[in-house]
Amino acid sequence: MMSLNDITEGNSFMRVFITGASGHVGSALVPELLHHGHSVVGLARSDAAAERITGWGGEVVRGDLDDLDGLYAAARAADGVVHLAFRHDAMQAGDRSGAAETDLAALRAIADALAGSDKPLVGTSGTGLLAHTSLDRTGTEEDFLPSGYRIDAENFVIGLADKGIRSSVVRLPPITHSTLDHQGFAPSLITFARQHGVSTYVGDGSNRWPSVHTLDAARLYRLALESAPAGTRLHAVGDEGIEFRRIAEAIGAGLELPVRSVDAEQAAEYVGFLASFVALDNPTSATRTRELLDWQPTHLGLLADLADGHYFRTAN
Ligand SMILES: NC(=O)c1ccc[n+]([C@@H]2O[C@H](COP(=O)([O-])OP(=O)(O)OC[C@H]3O[C@@H](n4cnc5c(N)ncnc54)[C@H](OP(=O)(O)O)[C@@H]3O)[C@@H](O)[C@H]2O)c1
Repeated sequence: MMSLNDITEGNSFMRVFITGASGHVGSALVPELLHHGHSVVGLARSDAAAERITGWGGEVVRGDLDDLDGLYAAARAADGVVHLAFRHDAMQAGDRSGAAETDLAALRAIADALAGSDKPLVGTSGTGLLAHTSLDRTGTEEDFLPSGYRIDAENFVIGLADKGIRSSVVRLPPITHSTLDHQGFAPSLITFARQHGVSTYVGDGSNRWPSVHTLDAARLYRLALESAPAGTRLHAVGDEGIEFRRIAEAIGAGLELPVRSVDAEQAAEYVGFLASFVALDNPTSATRTRELLDWQPTHLGLLADLADGHYFRTAN
């Protein structure tokens, strides 16, 4: 039940259209928004997705990311939009450019619907892009790249601030973790460790990964919808940078498997599609985000969440 304390002071309730509402982040964001008095319309491309969304109390609009007229109409009828959906299936099948083009086309349709309205649009990106800059320090919300895979979508959303849209982007860390996380990088690393009988890290494993609890990330998306200034990049970061070796050790402990270093060339053998990620050094600050939106992560950090054991009872 919602209490008065759950309602942000001075905030009016919104009818929020969410793409990707049936996914991992959506599974926390839909209840978060409903709990704070907003209503939710989630995009669903299957009966299973529709049932998940209605089960949490949301409404459904049927369609997929290629249905640009449908996206336009749903965004036009909403007071605000959160864009979470991404064609991970295409990306994992090697069609990165196809997934990115679909993403941009969907965002353009949503932007056309919201232009000049001053309504909020919250897009999604990743802190991982900062690992591809030449930063030799912790990444901040001010850091960005001019172009690149998924970066073009981030920059497009930020640019919508000049088109009368209160746009913002939430950058998620490579691991967004909780009992709601069934297909993210943490379950994938666990599955690979199980398959190979060993949990691995690259080199000395001193490279750092940020992370966030799904429930803390969902709260940040809500705060961004409610009050992020136009053109704001936000970091959904709880742990600013955990040495990857410690993540591998926590997985080894959870599975009661050995932990060992591999070199970069061997990584694909042990962690498959994650080979290009596991050696990334991605320390990331959320100081500006915390100050701007008074967002404080309150849920478990990654190592405590791994020590809790739930990942090892549910991962394949
Ligand atoms: N979770 C993380 O750790 C993390 C880290 C960095 C960035 N991100 C980004 O954050 C966003 C949300 O991530 P997530 O973990 O919630 O992803 P997820 O669990 O894989 O959910 C993806 C959502 O997108 C929907 N979707 C996929 N293809 C679609 C299409 N062609 N048309 C319509 N809907 C489609 C899915 O619908 P179905 O239910 O029908 O499959 C699902 O609702 C994504 O953009 C992701 O890349 C996530």
